[in-house]
Amino acid sequence: MIEVINLSHQYQTASGETIKALDRVNLKINEGEFIGIAGRNGSGKSTLAKYFNALLIPRPGEGQVVVDGRDSRKSELVWEIRQRVGMVFANPDNQIVAPVIEEEVAFGPENLGIPPAEIRHRVNQALNQVGMAGYEKRAPHHLSGGQKQRIAISGALAMQPRYLVLDEPTSMLDPAGRQEVMRTLKQLNQEAGMTIILITHHMEELVEVDRLIVMSQGQIVLDGPPAKVFQETQVLRELSLDVPQVVKLSSMLRQLGVNVPWDVLTVDDLVDFLQPDRNPKTGNRIS
Ligand SMILES: Nc1ncnc2c1ncn2[C@@H]1O[C@H](COP(=O)(O)OP(=O)(O)O)[C@@H](O)[C@H]1O
Ligand SMILES: [Mg+2]
Repeated sequence: MIEVINLSHQYQTASGETIKALDRVNLKINEGEFIGIAGRNGSGKSTLAKYFNALLIPRPGEGQVVVDGRDSRKSELVWEIRQRVGMVFANPDNQIVAPVIEEEVAFGPENLGIPPAEIRHRVNQALNQVGMAGYEKRAPHHLSGGQKQRIAISGALAMQPRYLVLDEPTSMLDPAGRQEVMRTLKQLNQEAGMTIILITHHMEELVEVDRLIVMSQGQIVLDGPPAKVFQETQVLRELSLDVPQVVKLSSMLRQLGVNVPWDVLTVDDLVDFLQPDRNPKTGNRIS
């Protein structure tokens, strides 16, 4: 479990101004969860992410972050926390350093001094987990954006983390690349039981998560299953946060008197609902 307790963070700008990036955040992340974090630019998402893996350490009196019982304020525990919590960032080109894919994925474990046979095993496993087995000898710069991001993910997986934090991993990708990455994350969560914390501004991606956290001005304002969070239309509108298209369409249908259930989040859900023969439970007709 990752526990964030009463965490606050201030940045000082060059001009001496103080910016409150996190404001008494409390949060518990359980193992096995697939969490999405949304919020407008500047709401504190990236700052929070950096606390999960001890890239930032709470100052005295500014709260604490505890990863599987390890308090990140204890400097001797920082490296262990960083291994437990893998990070993937937006731009795969900034994260990929080696000229050959297998070297890239081996980079982290090599730095840990892990024996070569074990490294080979980890590289194979990590490439398998992201669907990139067979690319070992290739050069990363020839890959598509989605493939590069999957290599960045496998580099994080080779460290055998318990948690994977991804800060807008799809923001530089085209729709196909976004889908590849989302499919990979879903599989990692469902098949390997990996805890995933996905920060994204693509609302469409958030229908996939188990738990959706919405941040505003350094605070958590909504936290729950996506079907619940998307019901908070008023709050979401005030934050000018977009909602998935199917959620929008469903609310228009509701205004027309069609009683679309709140757990309708995807096109498939909506089709199932609108075709009474495929969904006899509802028995609803639109005309
Ligand atoms: N290095 C920094 N120096 C000064 N202010 C920063 C720095 N990084 C972030 N901020 C400010 O802190 C607030 C939260 O930023 P951030 O955590 O990056 O939000 P998000 O990831 O949700 O866009 C914003 O107001 C941002 O401008
Ligand atoms: Mg950010």
